[in-house]
Amino acid sequence: MDNAGSDGRRFDEPSHADGVGGEAVIEPLAAFRERAVTSDRGVYERFEADWPECWEAAADLLDWERPYETILNDDDPPFYEWFAGGELNAAANCVDRHLDDRRNQLAIRWFGKRGERRSYTYLDLYREVNALAAGLRELGVEEDDVVTLYMPMIPELPVAMLACARIGAPHNVVFAGLSAEALSTRLDAADSEYLITCDGYYRREDAFNQKSKADNARLRMDGDLDATVVVDRLGDALDVPLGEDEHEYESLVDAHDGETVEPVARDATDLLFVMYTSGTTGRPKGVEHATGGYLAHVSWTTRNVLDVRPNDTYWCAADIGWITGHSYGVYGPLSVGTTTVLYEGSPDYPDRDRVWDLIERNAVSVFYTSPTAIRSFMKWGAEYPERHDLSSIRLLGTVGESITPKAWRWYREHVGGGEAPVVDTWWQTETGAIALATLPGVTPMKPGKVGPPLPGIDARVVDEDGERADPGTPGYLTIASPWPGMLRGLREGDERYLREYWVDAEDGWRYRTGDGAAVDEDGYVTILGRVDDVINVRARRFNTAELEASIVGTDGVTEAAVVGDDGGRIVAYVTTRGDVDPGADLRTTIADRVAQSVGDLARPDRIVFTPELPKTRSGKIMRRLLGDIARGEEFGDVSALRNPEVVGEIESAVRKE
Ligand code: WT7
Repeated sequence: MDNAGSDGRRFDEPSHADGVGGEAVIEPLAAFRERAVTSDRGVYERFEADWPECWEAAADLLDWERPYETILNDDDPPFYEWFAGGELNAAANCVDRHLDDRRNQLAIRWFGKRGERRSYTYLDLYREVNALAAGLRELGVEEDDVVTLYMPMIPELPVAMLACARIGAPHNVVFAGLSAEALSTRLDAADSEYLITCDGYYRREDAFNQKSKADNARLRMDGDLDATVVVDRLGDALDVPLGEDEHEYESLVDAHDGETVEPVARDATDLLFVMYTSGTTGRPKGVEHATGGYLAHVSWTTRNVLDVRPNDTYWCAADIGWITGHSYGVYGPLSVGTTTVLYEGSPDYPDRDRVWDLIERNAVSVFYTSPTAIRSFMKWGAEYPERHDLSSIRLLGTVGESITPKAWRWYREHVGGGEAPVVDTWWQTETGAIALATLPGVTPMKPGKVGPPLPGIDARVVDEDGERADPGTPGYLTIASPWPGMLRGLREGDERYLREYWVDAEDGWRYRTGDGAAVDEDGYVTILGRVDDVINVRARRFNTAELEASIVGTDGVTEAAVVGDDGGRIVAYVTTRGDVDPGADLRTTIADRVAQSVGDLARPDRIVFTPELPKTRSGKIMRRLLGDIARGEEFGDVSALRNPEVVGEIESAVRKE
């Protein structure tokens, strides 16, 4: 560490405090910039001067069956159409077009929970995607039929996504950890009659039955399934009998091995997939992504923000059950033609060396994970990454929630060798792809701030009236012009799409992100968290009303309020009936109930019993105050409360936990 600063950071150009927050500004290292996909400082100006034509640069990264006629059709805002008139197939872009140059290159390197390994070259991937596409057709899947995928992180999941894309059948991936109830809601909401799932998967040592969850979901559905395909993940470990309209994945693929299915030319605006996410009401929203704009934006950002190229080995640690895994675990890396690592296990199993061992043994060059994971790594200690050779790392990414400057520095120092750029990327299920981040070969980094909007993205922090907020003043993060990866609508229809996201301002339509933010003098954005009834924990979004409804459904519970704390935990404040003992048993019952109705990952980490919830005079629960208490923060004035005396009690209940 020859040129390390006193605090361990290394710069090849001097850092300077910018005066505003006195925080560090870290320039990209020359060595990185020289080899970066983008090192041209003029890119911001060019994109601004040439908008929306600038986004042709993204569309040009793809192979089109038919060229688009217009870049952006904004005849009927906010129902924007990107690359209208164009036709393409996402699977052909992620697989077929790489066959000429790199059919023998690894597309996917998979590591299973029990130390298993499997690799797919682009040619392997091509063959299996084709065989499954042929199999799905045989089962009756037609263009525009929605196929639901309910699988853990196994290679069959991306294969199934691509097989669907090949035949123009939109996929609807449901995170494998979600409950039967959640799956049935999503099957019905998406009008999906086809399901691909698996027999089960391992949780630590235990074989866990996924198929029985899928069976329960089917029983709960209003509609019904035409066909179910079941991957044998566990072999003999679990014997799952198949019904009449249920098919083994292996046999289906074997029966069609060697067949090819012509990729269906999809309109750029045709649906590629739907992904359910929590919104401001109890019902999840089905976010729809169009084929052309989504893939172009994802591909462009994989290259320009994550700096990924074909000869990289790239690892996005997010689960494919969420948007990050869709965009940057599957479509981004495969459209670029790189090698993507797929890891089924958890970061600390069998030991806390697991992540670093995988980076070392695969020579991972670009690693993308969440602040939640980084916090765990920090807690476990630097000795774990330090005893591995992580010199292959060229760039680090983070997404999902704000990262503290301390965690940012730890990540760079102990994982990035003190030199790798750390790109803090802001985006959402709805934006489809990264919208705010630094360009690692161009833009200086400020730890703790996501950075400016990407070139070509008109994100702004505004006040209540939609005027730009002054630097340092908290406001609302909005996007004032369309962008290629944007959702094309909601499954629930136009009205909900308009109501959830759009404001018809004097100077045009504004997309509301739902995030609070502040901007500094240099245009760098700090994300302050959600401003609606959504909490972000474990790099995932939960609707507070949905969790609270589940808790209140527990016998003996009268009211509940759910917040997130600064350690990425879910904290539930609960009041009970007078005749009920608020003790450990009730805690378990409540937590189990949430796990059952929403999923294990929504299980509250802390349940605080309190005689009353703090309420305003109009009867609204003051969640902000509960959040402050959970985070151990100073909270302001409580005089607006109808029951200010309860605050002290809640505080001591929290401390007692
Ligand atoms: C919400 C979107 C696509 C990302 C995975 C989650 C929060 C996302 C950041 C960041 C601070 C962030 C926002 C956003 N978020 N990235 N870099 N810094 N907050 O996708 O479930 O759609 O959640 O995650 O609150 O609105 P999602």
